[in-house]
Amino acid sequence: MAILKILQYPDERLHTIAKPLPAVTAATRNLIRDMAETMYAAPGVGLAATQVDVHEQLIVIDISETRDQLMVFINPEIIASSGEIEREEGCLSVPGVYEKVCRAERVTVNALDAHGKPFTLEMDGLQATCVQHEIDHLKGKVFVEYLSLLKQSRLRAKIKKHRRETL
Ligand code: NI
Repeated sequence: MAILKILQYPDERLHTIAKPLPAVTAATRNLIRDMAETMYAAPGVGLAATQVDVHEQLIVIDISETRDQLMVFINPEIIASSGEIEREEGCLSVPGVYEKVCRAERVTVNALDAHGKPFTLEMDGLQATCVQHEIDHLKGKVFVEYLSLLKQSRLRAKIKKHRRETL
């Protein structure tokens, strides 16, 4: 197992569109283990392969308090959504930034599990927000891109300043 390096916004590689995985192999399961370890160590509630510079459609999520309810989604696809909810989000690729984003309140997702078995899951609450946030990563989208352009440019200036100060 290994802790992987998480790409930091505004890294261009975060805008790469992930490819579907043709098959779930031993390499995929290794990546899942490493991504889970990286997410737990961060700590975070979700991580997309895009964030560790692997451009395959794979995400891991664990929103449990006990940190032992790992969910794996391979080639996830939202097949239904309803309602609307605004929730404050954060991202391991944008540390220290928390902003409200409006998303569907409930989603139904089709995906493959860690063994390559297809499943369909209906989600709501934080889990639904989280899965939409992570699926966005696979499409090359970071949550701050939902903010106004003014807010985004302020954010980039703040990040640049912060990096200069910590170098
Ligand atoms: Ni994120």
